[in-house]
Amino acid sequence: MCGIVGYTGPRQAYPVILKGLKRLEYRGYDSAGIALVNSDGLNVYKKKGKVAVLEEEMENLHINSHIGIGHTRWATHGEPSDRNAHPHVSQSGNIAMIHNGIIENYSQIKKELLKKGYTFKSDTDTEVLLNFIDDILQKNECTLEEAVRIALRRIVGAYCILLVHKDDPETIIAARKGSPLVIGIGKGEHFLASDASPIIEYTKEVVYVNDYEIAIVKPDELILKNLGNDKQTPFITKLNMEMAAIEKGGYDHFMLKEIFEQPTTIYDCLRGRLDAEQGTIVMGGIQKYADQIMNAPRIIIIACGTSWHAGLVAEYIIEETCRIPVEVEYASEFRYRNPVVHKGDVIIAISQSGETADTLVAIEKAKEQGAVIVGIVNVVGSSIARASHTGSYTHAGPEIGVASTKAFTAQLAVLTMVALKIGYEKGTLNKERFMYLCKELSEIPAKAEQVLKLDDHIKEIALKYKDAPDFLYLGRGYNFPVALEGALKLKEISYIHAEGYPAAEMKHGPIALVTSELPVVFVATKDAYHEKVVSNMQEIKARKGIVISVITEGDTVSPTLSNDVITIPAADEIVAPMLSVIPLQLLAYHIGVAKGYDVDKPRNLAKSVTVE
Ligand code: AGP
Ligand code: GLU
Repeated sequence: MCGIVGYTGPRQAYPVILKGLKRLEYRGYDSAGIALVNSDGLNVYKKKGKVAVLEEEMENLHINSHIGIGHTRWATHGEPSDRNAHPHVSQSGNIAMIHNGIIENYSQIKKELLKKGYTFKSDTDTEVLLNFIDDILQKNECTLEEAVRIALRRIVGAYCILLVHKDDPETIIAARKGSPLVIGIGKGEHFLASDASPIIEYTKEVVYVNDYEIAIVKPDELILKNLGNDKQTPFITKLNMEMAAIEKGGYDHFMLKEIFEQPTTIYDCLRGRLDAEQGTIVMGGIQKYADQIMNAPRIIIIACGTSWHAGLVAEYIIEETCRIPVEVEYASEFRYRNPVVHKGDVIIAISQSGETADTLVAIEKAKEQGAVIVGIVNVVGSSIARASHTGSYTHAGPEIGVASTKAFTAQLAVLTMVALKIGYEKGTLNKERFMYLCKELSEIPAKAEQVLKLDDHIKEIALKYKDAPDFLYLGRGYNFPVALEGALKLKEISYIHAEGYPAAEMKHGPIALVTSELPVVFVATKDAYHEKVVSNMQEIKARKGIVISVITEGDTVSPTLSNDVITIPAADEIVAPMLSVIPLQLLAYHIGVAKGYDVDKPRNLAKSVTVE
């Protein structure tokens, strides 16, 4: 996602847009740019880095303009740089555009434009859409609005776009599908933004633009149309949220917002890659190295923290579907010992930030020994992404909360697609099971929505046990890494000591910890081990322990052994971790909030551990 701002009216546009971008920087901060229109035409300034870098670049310019658009980027196509920053200018030089979203069919359109002689200054999908619009405008006697409408009929993907024309010093053309757009109604002026935080200080009257709508915005006129050119009546609502709340989408904390974003972020991760109907998984970066991956003598997964837990889940999935031996290493341990890495080994480096020092050094070391590095990263163009031979981005958008939530489930979604794709192409995963697992994966976003509906119930459980001094989290198989992740979330957010363990390990020592004061969280979704996990629950109950179980709908046994039960939709064990982790994220969140802690910025922690 990214931050989009536009203004047209009597004010000087630059200060309004700059301030708006600062309010939206939480949505992305890879680069920032502004396009202003005046009698000189288009004045475009853009810089890699935060908005402050752009502000410094423009501080002595004093451009007189009453209309403009601004963008703070979260890169998806084309690494963060000046040339990939928005606004982009069309080849004709007539139009400037900013975009939030992903154009999935941009590469086909780019090929057609290249054949027509178009050249591109950036690597972005956005510039392709812009020149597509420009080409239509050049070739037809039509307005910019009409050219946008014609172009959008062909676009697959998500967009919120704002366009200005060098010869029109008052009109902004806007359109959206899948990415948000709010228009603030002022007196003889209009404000446009990704959310209301840049708008609320000027007006509380806003219009939320709907998907497939186009807005033609002038200082004293707002026209809304659909892609069929039919006028739509703008529905004006009154803002009743405070600015700080708006940045968090109305949630109390970024962490909660990001937990609730997971159906969308998992869907965004799968979009354009997984087609469960057709039974295809398209992943360009992985395809290029498919032979090396499927013929690897060994796969070593290197990561830290939550990303390391994602690696453990991936170990189970890859070994089951690809029959390749997998080892999961803490980056910090791997880099300091003298690891044995053979040429041809494949390293999968997992990192949300792409800047974790231990992971970066570890993969450099492995690369020196001839390994192929596959990066599974959230931040486009980050150090680990650039140090990798290939990889796949998780497209989870900026994760502001220090405790990783949506990035974890996005990592699992990508790793599952990699495993299914490689296993099927290698022949270790037959077509029937491949098709079944693709369908199971495609249903996760909707099932995640179902799990999130349990938030109130989970909050009640959290309040019951928020003062416990210790927690245990237990799981078997695919649920063991989920147990570890649940324990980490609780530690990070509520500062309560918690341990994750393989459920069967209890009898080898930890069961000595069980008392009537100890909550034991079982990740006990239906799988091959379920009966064994039930006996582990009995062991805890027999010692008066408290059992909180995350189970699959239809499980009638576990509730008889549980003090509290969280029932989630059924899903194959390979994809179930993306669902069973959500109650554990919410449990940690509500306990942390109930204890009065800053759950977005927990003590002693940083979002990205760039120190060794
Ligand atoms: C997870 O909630 C923590 N914030 C931390 O363990 C994190 O997962 C770890 O530092 C790895 O970060 P990365 O994914 O950005 O490499
Ligand atoms: N896909 C566009 C790009 O990578 C827009 C990304 C965004 O939403 O910030 O530049």
